[in-house]
Amino acid sequence: MLGTTMKLSDEEIKAIDKEYCSWGDTVHYHDEQTIFRNCEGSYMYDSKDTPYLDLQMWYSSCNLGYKNKRVLNAVLDQYQTMPQISSRFVYDYKALLAEKIAKANIDRYGIKGRVQFNVGGAQVNEDMLKLIRNYTKKPRMFAFMGGYHGRTIGTTAVTSSYRYREHFGHISDTAHFVPFPYCFRCPYDKKCESCNMYCVKQFAKLFESEYNGVYDPKTKDCEFGGFIAEPLLGTGGYIVPPKGYFKELKKVLDEYNILFMADEVQMGCFRTGKLWAMEHFDVKPDAMTFAKSITNGMNPLAGMWAKEELINPKVFPAGRTHSTYAANPIGTRAGYEVMSIFEEERKELETEIARKGKKFLDGLKVLEKKYKNIGTVNGLGFALSVEVTEADGYTPARELCDEIIEAGLKGNLSYKGKRCGLILNNGGYYKNIITLVPQLYISDEEIDMALELMDQLFDIYMEKTAG
Ligand SMILES: Cc1ncc(COP(=O)(O)O)c(C=O)c1O
Repeated sequence: MLGTTMKLSDEEIKAIDKEYCSWGDTVHYHDEQTIFRNCEGSYMYDSKDTPYLDLQMWYSSCNLGYKNKRVLNAVLDQYQTMPQISSRFVYDYKALLAEKIAKANIDRYGIKGRVQFNVGGAQVNEDMLKLIRNYTKKPRMFAFMGGYHGRTIGTTAVTSSYRYREHFGHISDTAHFVPFPYCFRCPYDKKCESCNMYCVKQFAKLFESEYNGVYDPKTKDCEFGGFIAEPLLGTGGYIVPPKGYFKELKKVLDEYNILFMADEVQMGCFRTGKLWAMEHFDVKPDAMTFAKSITNGMNPLAGMWAKEELINPKVFPAGRTHSTYAANPIGTRAGYEVMSIFEEERKELETEIARKGKKFLDGLKVLEKKYKNIGTVNGLGFALSVEVTEADGYTPARELCDEIIEAGLKGNLSYKGKRCGLILNNGGYYKNIITLVPQLYISDEEIDMALELMDQLFDIYMEKTAG
């Protein structure tokens, strides 16, 4: 056992949870629970000290690996120096982290902006919606079908799934949802090679007539203040948009004065091999949010960055948004360390994530050829995915996907003669996509291990291609 003292047995923990924890979070989607006792690097460990190679990494919250020493030491130091301070006051690491992020964006986008902190992805997305509403005085937003921006009552308005609003009703009719360009399942049944960005043209058509419900051509006024977009769909299945898509989309937004908001909560922090995933697409956001890996999972902290025009103190003065734990000192200290690592290791991270991401994707392509139940594989850097289908290679197979993920969590796979498990996650419109989220420092050998463990699982559950 690597650290934790085991006071309670797995069964005792499960019994207490069953009786006293609300089942309203996401734990009880699953009947069977694996109890973990420790984590380090790429692995979680169960009560028997069995390592589970983690390709989920707390939904991309621990990009620098579990118990990353530099971040851990920074946090421990902060606990010894000033662990608490009211959000009424400014202090060193809050100011320094905001500066680092603002300067990173000057460097990347050539735009001066400011940063406001909060405690989670949903909360900062709400802050960003408030900011855009405050500036444009327009309450409505465009958002993608399949997009996920959080589950607070405000963000469920721009998260496309009705399921998240179903039991609570509507707080507002904020969003108009636009199909995300997932070429394998094109919402318009087009072929990527020949469609000529048909989806962007469909979006542009919305502005041709007042009867499309978004724009008045006479006054040239659009009812929508902004477009909130994940650079790649995260919860929507790690879908990479075709090159050039965002550039074309942004031209339409600019024409109608619609602000562009990037939600980098899941795809930021080098997940795709760049600090922000939007950098791959050669477009500049007017505002953006980040969370999850900004502290490497060490404390809740999230933030919104916006260009000066939208967030300067005259336009967005004191008190426009606030939360007691926003900019908490443990979170900002962890965030400062994470951003320092990103700055110092930028070149190496960019080249290594591109190289290793390609190696991983190439391995997935081999599996795609081997198994009939893989519809397609996809990836940008370390945001990778495997679409699980029926043997026809197209019909989504959610149950099969679930079975494979559950089997990895039993911890009875084997690699080089040693018992181990595999932690996977699923996403996508049909929840049939295995989303692969390794830590950024995953070694070449661990990538081989990941591919071999997936092969072991697929071999049990999938049909092989002839020959
Ligand atoms: C793109 C995106 N935005 C927002 C959120 C919400 O973040 P949080 O769970 O911290 O509220 C998530 C969470 O998965 C996300 O992936």
